Amino acid sequence: MTDLNFNAVTSTEMNYGKDRPKAANPIKIQDLSLRDGHQSLFATRGRTEDMIPVAEMMDEVGFWAVETWGGATFDTMHRFLNEDPWERLRTLKRYMKKTPFSMLLRAQNLVGYRNYADDLAKVFVERTAANGLDVFRTFDALNDYRNFETVVKAIKECGKHFQGCICYTMTEPRLGGEVYNLEYYVKKAKDLESMGADSICIKDMAGLIAPYDAYQLVKALKAAVKPPIHLHTHFTSGMAPMSILKAIEAGIDIVDTCMSPYAYRTSHAAIEPLVMSLIGTNRDTGFDIAFLAKINEIFEKEVMPKYRHLLDDSKMSIIDINVLLHQTPGGMLSNLVNQLREMDALDKIDLVYKELPRVRKDLGQIPLVTPTSQIVGIQTVNNVLFDTPEERYKMITGQVKDLCYGLYGKTAVPINPEVQKKALKGYARGEEPITCRPAQVLEPELEKAKKEIGDLAKDIDDQVLYAIYPVTGKKFLSWKYGKEAPPKEVLPKTLEDVKAEQELIKKLKAGKLVEKVEKELPPKSDKLRTFNVFVEGDYFEVGVDEVGESPVLKYIQQIPVAAAPAAAGPAGAPGLRPSAPARPAAPAPKAASPAPKPAAAPAAAPKAAPADVAGTPIKAPMPGMIVRYAKNVGDAVNQGDTVVILEAMKMENALNALASGTIKAINFKSGDSVAKNDVLCVIG
Ligand code: CO
Repeated sequence: MTDLNFNAVTSTEMNYGKDRPKAANPIKIQDLSLRDGHQSLFATRGRTEDMIPVAEMMDEVGFWAVETWGGATFDTMHRFLNEDPWERLRTLKRYMKKTPFSMLLRAQNLVGYRNYADDLAKVFVERTAANGLDVFRTFDALNDYRNFETVVKAIKECGKHFQGCICYTMTEPRLGGEVYNLEYYVKKAKDLESMGADSICIKDMAGLIAPYDAYQLVKALKAAVKPPIHLHTHFTSGMAPMSILKAIEAGIDIVDTCMSPYAYRTSHAAIEPLVMSLIGTNRDTGFDIAFLAKINEIFEKEVMPKYRHLLDDSKMSIIDINVLLHQTPGGMLSNLVNQLREMDALDKIDLVYKELPRVRKDLGQIPLVTPTSQIVGIQTVNNVLFDTPEERYKMITGQVKDLCYGLYGKTAVPINPEVQKKALKGYARGEEPITCRPAQVLEPELEKAKKEIGDLAKDIDDQVLYAIYPVTGKKFLSWKYGKEAPPKEVLPKTLEDVKAEQELIKKLKAGKLVEKVEKELPPKSDKLRTFNVFVEGDYFEVGVDEVGESPVLKYIQQIPVAAAPAAAGPAGAPGLRPSAPARPAAPAPKAASPAPKPAAAPAAAPKAAPADVAGTPIKAPMPGMIVRYAKNVGDAVNQGDTVVILEAMKMENALNALASGTIKAINFKSGDSVAKNDVLCVIG
């Protein structure tokens, strides 16, 4: 019996509490609040300390599993939160001893954005299992299961649960068409079954699955394969609760939900309405709804206030029908909007929507899920911003080149040969694309990474973290071991911060805050001296500069201040800044300092070329982070040579010399954040 039976119990037996009669075939629930929930709503900024207050209670609910790790958490934690991702697993495991932990594993991409070599993939899975992970929800963005081979072998060897995903995507308004039809999904499910999948997940990252398609698909998969079927869908378009219900009617085994504070918008359906909907049926969850409400109260009081500012409140509607029109997954839309905003090009969003399906088609109709959603998304933004009527694909990201080479796997339909040819012109691995399992062309990388990071890594977990994220991983390890002080952006927001902010807003609304008039500041001389002046528990840095005969106060700057525009002299000493206008910060309680930006790395102020270096500059075409310079000062370059690799929105962009000559100046180093138009280097 798979269909819902509404008459399983009589109304007199119905009971909201957990002592009600057990259902014949209870639906199993995986909770996503602690991973996909905050990844979808709060830019993955959820901190371990905010999971602990509810961890023990959540362990009592009766979830099939709780998703606590993987996806973007590994990246965000070490990059933006100064948290060791491995430590989160160990810590939560101490509080949640009964419920299995699950993670989202990007197959050969692990928890990063490219295919890693087999040696690293194997050790990553082993370390993840050793640190407490039980269910490995594994997906490949191209549904190319050759990318599963290495990790699945390791998962099985560790005796853990291998959940194989089929990324759900469409080219038509509903399930069907030539590429992604019912036969496609059934075939993929059979492939997963033959790989030894312990369960099979329909992974609908964009919330595209319509209720009746869900019904039809689940029926077909249940008839075709033995492993339990699991539905993962996002609320984004508004269809998720309906689709989940239809999937349950079709006999699905497991579904994903969030606790209500983490539900809806680009996240997932909430658990509470589902519990109520199924009470008294043969699919009753058996969950105690009053107990769930208690957990929510803790979330609402102790956790949510710290994250509210990260919620996208630009619209009233919690549903994004653009998703139905453009098939963009939850996180991707906000990334695109952020990227355009940083480039002052938000007005081009409609062009981006129009270009997106064209780029996707050119790139082989690939599903849009991390990392392909970023690859397609950022290439689309690049095309809209940099293409000319004469030339398309003017700035091709490194990742699109990799995709065209076959490094991500086989696309559902062939890549547009013209785009492929252009992308692979001069491509370092070769201009002829590969057709084998991508990792076969990758050299082992873990030992090399161990040598590079040396003593800064204290154990294998540090080494793996560095191997996956060399630039930000190294930065994190130097914070972790006290070699470098972490910047204030990575500090947690406290409830006191929230209170101070609210008071400030109250004052503002009452008209008690006055705007400070901005003054033109005279240039600072080399005689400038700075003093700390303490005023009632607050302090100000005061610069004193001598003008004429007596010292005169020149500027007042509150600490901490936002980065003021500064010249990019290699020394960077304050005295060397030529007429840098220090913006006077409006006096405000320190606790109310601006919160870290949710998306990209904090943007640095534009930097000019040092006055003494003449030549042709290479400017950052977009805000981002320097991955590396391919040349050193003094190197000769030819026009078109790659000089610097800039990471923007996690995509690598090779910036080429606009003129031949010699590298005269290099103004940044690996790991530095740069703003649009920063001069990265000068060729003379
Ligand atoms: Co998801």
